[in-house]
Amino acid sequence: MDKRYFSDKVVEWYELNKRDLPWRTTRDPYKIWLSEIILQQTRVIQGLPYYLRFIEKFPTVQALASASEQEVLRMWQGLGYYTRARNLHKCAKEVISKYRGVFPDTFEELKKLPGIGDYTAAAIASFSYQEKVAVVDGNVFRVLARIFGIEKETNSPEGKKYFTQVANELIKKENPDAHNQAVMEFGALHCVPVNPACSECIFQTTCFASQKNLQTQLPVKVKAKAARARYFYYFVFQKGKSMLMKKRDQKDIWHGLYDFHLIEKNKFKNPAKLIAEDVHLKKFADAASVVSKKYKHVLSHQIIHATFIIIKSNSAFQDDKNLKFYSVKKISELPKPVLISRFLEDNHLL
Ligand code: ADE
Repeated sequence: MDKRYFSDKVVEWYELNKRDLPWRTTRDPYKIWLSEIILQQTRVIQGLPYYLRFIEKFPTVQALASASEQEVLRMWQGLGYYTRARNLHKCAKEVISKYRGVFPDTFEELKKLPGIGDYTAAAIASFSYQEKVAVVDGNVFRVLARIFGIEKETNSPEGKKYFTQVANELIKKENPDAHNQAVMEFGALHCVPVNPACSECIFQTTCFASQKNLQTQLPVKVKAKAARARYFYYFVFQKGKSMLMKKRDQKDIWHGLYDFHLIEKNKFKNPAKLIAEDVHLKKFADAASVVSKKYKHVLSHQIIHATFIIIKSNSAFQDDKNLKFYSVKKISELPKPVLISRFLEDNHLL
């Protein structure tokens, strides 16, 4: 298919079918960057309220850079993968300190900022500054793989390089912003993963997958490794309405978020046995009352199986000096993993 034909057709489709989204009516690189970071983490429907809340609380990159990391994590709460939120904050600070508060205006320079990879740099460079550089995300992989019959694996370095090269051959210098938005939107709304409406498609007669009936086979992806199972036993010390919590500071998931005293195992254990075997916890064996249902919390490469054991006690627990009692009000304001919020809500502890 002629490259110009593809771009013109998909942009024409876009102008007729696009969703009205707030980051599409601005060229402000701060707003575009923020929206793209959120949208890497979640779908448009779930991401939109986060975007609106962030913009309201932090209308400029200066405002975001001046916030505390805790405030940023709190705003991000529920989106998961908190490294993105920490990088978001780091990036805002660097835009202030190294670029005098103005996002750099080229793809190459943007990539030097924390948390900005090829995808985000291409999005900002094209949407804000009309640089002719193609975005390549899951939607783009799917559209190009099907229409042009590309059988390379989308999650291998060679595959990604190849798709990026093709995508950059298709984009035009007159409207790189509309072209990029159009390919992504076409993938999100029309050329969807399951049951795409090929009989009503503008590319019906030219699409490789549609011609050969290979829609379900394309794009090709290498299988991911099985997720690692982890078994968390949380000991929730309660004194009146206060609870013992600590900030996670190890190199692990949820860095900077607050949780309870944790014992991790590599398989299911009986909580009573765990208490009896632990020098510090065994003193509280009689106070260990409520054992929660088992929670299953799925992350991208891990499955957490969590059990919460509530211990009502006025005496001090000495195992870990970082644990502190926090009031219910304070706990409601702390940034917490969704798993911890689920437990607190289920047990009416907030
Ligand atoms: N997903 C990622 N970027 C997007 C954008 N700019 N508009 C809609 N969905 C998106």
